[in-house]
Amino acid sequence: MSFRLSRSLKGSASGIARTFREYEKRSRAAGRGKREQTASDYREITNLYYDVATDFYEFGWGRSFHCAPRVPAESFKASLARHEHYLAHKLGMVVADLGCGIGGPLVEIARFSGAKIVGVNSNAYQLERARKYAEEAELAHLAEFMHCDFLDVDAPDGSFDAVYAIEATCCAADKISIYGEIFRLLKPGACFAAYEY
Ligand SMILES: C[S@@+](CC[C@H](N)C(=O)[O-])C[C@H]1O[C@@H](n2cnc3c(N)ncnc32)[C@H](O)[C@@H]1O
Repeated sequence: MSFRLSRSLKGSASGIARTFREYEKRSRAAGRGKREQTASDYREITNLYYDVATDFYEFGWGRSFHCAPRVPAESFKASLARHEHYLAHKLGMVVADLGCGIGGPLVEIARFSGAKIVGVNSNAYQLERARKYAEEAELAHLAEFMHCDFLDVDAPDGSFDAVYAIEATCCAADKISIYGEIFRLLKPGACFAAYEY
């Protein structure tokens, strides 16, 4: 099992150790409030974290990187799908998935709902995998991906019939601006749905 993990890890062991040290250094400095944190500090720290964590998550957790409380006798996989289908029911036609990870929920929700979904993520490595998985699922026509910060999405006001975020807005450098940006992206009266842990 550990052999399979080490084969699939992004980069060499020394590269991973270097990224991890840099992550620790920066997050410790952030914790001590050594200097004022900017949105780009947050983005870099988050990206360092996900550069290392993505392969571990995928290995141990699967393609959906979110929690999904289970009902009695429900399998882990079924609980993930139930949470994704529940969101799909609440959504409209052109939808944004903010902080889409490697696209596990996006693929499931697009397949289930037929909605076109734009996955937004600041992590290039995860987006590469998300594109691959959408193509493998033959859902590339329903999946689009944008490499940018979800605090500053390159889309006109009112672009989306719905927006959702699954355990991602907690990473936002500014918890007020993220909801302002979501409001801007939504058509008037449209719905935002989110899970957070
Ligand atoms: C816990 S993962 C959840 C991924 C996905 N929603 C899922 O449930 O599988 C958090 C995600 O938020 C993304 N993220 C964090 N900060 C971001 C930012 N400022 N802009 C865009 N994406 C961000 C990370 O790259 C990661 O993909």
